Amino acid sequence: MNAQTSTRSIPTLSRETWLEQVRRHREAVPSPCLAMFSSITGGITCDPTLMQVPVDDHLVHRGDGVFETLKCATGGIYNLDAHLDRLSVSALGIGLQSQYSAATLKELIIATVRAAGQPTILIRVLLSRGPGSMGVNPHDCPSAETYIIVSTAATPFMEKQPGGAHLGFSQVPPKPFPFSALKHCNYLPNAMMAKESTDRGLDFIVGLTPDGNVLEGPTENVACVDPDGYLIAPESNQILAGTTLERVTVLAGDLVRNGSLQGIRQELISKEQLMAAQEVLISGTSHDLVAVTRIDNQPVGSGTPGSAYKALSQALRAEIYQPSPLRTDVHF
Ligand SMILES: Cc1ncc(COP(=O)(O)O)c(C=O)c1O
Repeated sequence: MNAQTSTRSIPTLSRETWLEQVRRHREAVPSPCLAMFSSITGGITCDPTLMQVPVDDHLVHRGDGVFETLKCATGGIYNLDAHLDRLSVSALGIGLQSQYSAATLKELIIATVRAAGQPTILIRVLLSRGPGSMGVNPHDCPSAETYIIVSTAATPFMEKQPGGAHLGFSQVPPKPFPFSALKHCNYLPNAMMAKESTDRGLDFIVGLTPDGNVLEGPTENVACVDPDGYLIAPESNQILAGTTLERVTVLAGDLVRNGSLQGIRQELISKEQLMAAQEVLISGTSHDLVAVTRIDNQPVGSGTPGSAYKALSQALRAEIYQPSPLRTDVHF
C-alpha cells in the first residue's frame, strides 16, 4: 500500500461519527472516570465519551499545568485545604493564575464528587495553561483552564497486602529543584519510576540523590523510625511536601508524648540509614500509610509491620475514613 492509498483510506469523520467512535473506544477500554468538570463548558459530565481536554491546551502537548490528587473516603473529602494550598503554591511556582478562588474551587470539587455519586473515590484537580497554540510559550494561551476529574479509587495497599511492602531504589534521575517541589503535570520521571517498580516486581520504589540520599516515590513520600526510636522525615528540596506525611508527623506527636517514639526529626536519610531503620513507612493520598517490610529483599526490622506503623496508620485512617475536622462532607 503506498502513502497515497493509505491516506485516502482514512476518513474525515463527521462530529457524530467521531463521537460515536470515541464512545465505542470507551466501551473497549472502560474509563475509571466517573465525573468531570471542565471550565471550558462550565459544567459537569458523567459521560466518559465527553470527558475531553482540547488538544491545543498546553497541558496536553507540553505538560504545562499543575495538579492535585485528593481522596474522598466514605463521603468526606480529606484534607481539602492542605491540597488547595499546595495547588496554589504549585500554580504560583509556574506563574499560572487560577481562574477560580479557593472557595469556588471547593464548590466545584464538591459538586463534581456529588455528580459522581460514589462515597469513596479519587479527585484530580488540574489547572492547565489552557488552549492557544501548539507552541511551547505560555504567553500564547489567553486563559488558564480547570479540569476536575473524579475516578474510582484503588484499594489501599495494606488492605490488600497486610504483611507489608517490598521497596527498592530507583535508577531514574531525580527531578531538579524547583520542579521537584511543585506538583506539575510533567510526571515523566515519576511515570518511569512507577514502570521500573512494576518491571522489577517491587511494590514501591524511591529515588536517590547522586550521593545516595533517599528522596521519594513516584507519588509517595518515605519516612523511617531509626534504631533510637526517632521518626525521621527526609529533608530535601528535591521532593514534594506530602500532605499525608505532614499529617503523619503531626499524629506522631502523640506517640512522642506517650513515650512510644523518642522524637521527630527532619533530616537527610541515606540509603544505608533507611536499610538499617527499625521501621520504614510510605505515605501518600492513594495508599494512606504503608509499612515497608523488605528493602531490596532484606527484611526491615523484624520483617513485619512495626508498632509505629500500627499506631500511626490507625490514627491516620481514623481521620480519613471517620468523621473528623479534616474532612469536608459531600452530602450526597
Ligand atoms: C511526587 C510525589 N511525592 C509525594 C506525594 C505524596 O503526597 P500526598 O501525601 O499529598 O499525596 C505525591 C502525591 O501526590 C507525589 O506526587
